[in-house]
Formats: sequence, C-alpha cells, structure tokens
Amino acid sequence: MGAAARAEELKVLLSRQKIARRVRALGAQITADYRGRPLHVIGILKGSWVFMADLLRHLDLDVTVDFLGFASYGLGTASSGEIRITKDLDASIEGLEVLIVEDILDTGRTFNHLERFLAAHRPKSLKVSTLLDKPTRRIVPVRADYVGFEIPDVFVVGYGLDFGHRYRNLPDIRIVQP
Ligand code: PRP
Repeated sequence: MGAAARAEELKVLLSRQKIARRVRALGAQITADYRGRPLHVIGILKGSWVFMADLLRHLDLDVTVDFLGFASYGLGTASSGEIRITKDLDASIEGLEVLIVEDILDTGRTFNHLERFLAAHRPKSLKVSTLLDKPTRRIVPVRADYVGFEIPDVFVVGYGLDFGHRYRNLPDIRIVQP
C-alpha cells in the first residue's frame, strides 16, 4: 500500500458484524416509519455507497434510488468548508418523500448545504440517515433522523470511508492516526 499504513495495522472501531446488525435495525426502523409510502433514496457520493447498498436491502418498501455527488474534503482529514457538486441528481424529487443516505455527519457543513440544495427542489418530505455521527465536531447545528453509531473524534476509514481516497474497500471501520 505504498507509504500508507497497511489496513490490518489500523485499529478496528466497528466490526463488520456490528455494522451489519445496526444497518439491519436501521432498515427495519425506516421500513416501519414509511410503511405503505414510496421512498426516494439519495446516496451522497462517494462515501455512502457501501452503507447504501446494505441499507437498501433491508428496506421493505417501494424504493427508487438516485445519487448526488457532494464533496467537501480534499486529501486531508479536515473539512475545508468548500462544497462542490460532482454529480447532479438524475431525476426530479419534487413531491417525493426523500431519504438522504450519508456515511458520516461531522462538522455539519455538508449536510447544511445539502439540505438547502435539496429543499429548493421541493420534495414532499426530507429526512437524513447517516451511518456515523461525530456530534462533538459539530460547527453547524444539524442532526440526522437515523443514526447508525455515534463515534468519538477519531478519523475513520473503511466501509466506504476514505483517507486520501484509500481504504474505502475495508469491510470493518478502522481508525487512522493522520
Ligand atoms: C464526507 C462525508 C460527508 C461529509 C461530512 O464527504 O461523506 O459528506 O464529509 O463532513 P461535514 O459534516 O464536516 O461536512 P467527503 O467530502 O469526504 O467526500 P466523500 O464522501 O467522497 O469521501
């Protein structure tokens, strides 16, 4: 892996088994909340795609899917506060019940931009699920409707999350010491 630490040297914060159990429970909760209503699920690229793939298979609902590319971080570990749209929505969300799927809620800056961007497209409702939440890092006071795990202020990789674009493929969530 070149200069980067080998994956197995990184401490595991959340094992694949623990993640799987929690994602199943979140799916059951979302299914119960939207019972009988179509749900449009929007994954925020890139970090959310692994979580989204697993979560979707626990939704027993009439689901449609889209992706939105929203990037805030560069190659480092600190949020730059700058947001770029890297992929727009494919379909209109006007009048739809929308669930955003994020991998991590950190400073809240991305979510704050995201909420305003999507609300302008007039969905019928808008909720957010995030696998991970770091509440101690919050700069903008936002909260998610569905949270997988609250975690401390450590930099995590795996299960879709990266450090300098690496480690997204790791099945467990591990801690990187930058
Ligand atoms: C991460 C994550 C969230 C955002 C959270 O995305 O997916 O979108 O940062 O941070 P914030 O609450 O401090 O704004 P990132 O920009 O790293 O892009 P990626 O998902 O493509 O890795």
